[in-house]
Amino acid sequence: MQLSREQIESYRRDGYLFLPAMLSAEEIAGFHAALPALFSQDTPRRILETDGVTVRSHYGAHADDSRYGALVRDARMLQPARQLIGDAVYAYQFKINSKLAFSGECWAWHQDFIYWQREDGVPMPHMTTVAVFLDEVNEFNGPLVLVPGSHAAGVIDVESRAAKPAAYADSPDWVASLTADIKYSVPQATVAMLAAANGLVAPKGPRGSLLFFHPNLVHASAANISPFDRIVALATYNSVQNLPLHGDRRPDFLCSRDFAPLESLPACPTDHHRHLAEA
Ligand code: SIN
Ligand code: MN
Repeated sequence: MQLSREQIESYRRDGYLFLPAMLSAEEIAGFHAALPALFSQDTPRRILETDGVTVRSHYGAHADDSRYGALVRDARMLQPARQLIGDAVYAYQFKINSKLAFSGECWAWHQDFIYWQREDGVPMPHMTTVAVFLDEVNEFNGPLVLVPGSHAAGVIDVESRAAKPAAYADSPDWVASLTADIKYSVPQATVAMLAAANGLVAPKGPRGSLLFFHPNLVHASAANISPFDRIVALATYNSVQNLPLHGDRRPDFLCSRDFAPLESLPACPTDHHRHLAEA
């Protein structure tokens, strides 16, 4: 699937591109079916909310679940990612943020690239992230909130928070990037200034919608106080010419060592499974 010139221009100007209802209900049902097995794994790849019980995120499902492996190669994600980055790409990071009803916690205001630059040594923001809505995202269940155009500010130089949150005292240091109280957050005054100039947007839409966003776009999301889950999978693609300089400091589920350029699969889910079966 190729983006039009207007869509590419809109992404370059605003730092995001929203494509509602791109995946079918059948495909989304398959992704949901994989979740109980993934979320029940007791592994460092599973991050819990501060209550120590609720699943906040799961990392790296694309590497060992065929459905998510097919998702990162899906032409509806991969071809636009290649166009937006202008190069062949590999899967840098893949996560599922569950943001469950009544319990999903917030994501503070931040840019993603500062983590990948400072923690992993990625040279350039030649990356894009696609959020795949596995649930309807509405105004109640903690949609991603974006400051349009804020990617043009580049990396905003912020201090890292000194310590891990108390609830994660026994966890490895890298957990500090993944919790509600994240390591590099954009100061409120900076968010206020950017939002005064550009406003805020919160793309909302049905299951199967895709939201592409630039790694320097300032974004956040509120806690989910609603009775509706907000499960979103996020695939981050990086240019194969932009490899991390110290990509072995964090686990590979945060900074992948598999730099092989991704080849796209056809969009039809039946074909995905046939292709995987033959591989
Ligand atoms: C993110 O910032 O990477 C995700 C935020 C969210 O899931 O709302
Ligand atoms: Mn983020």
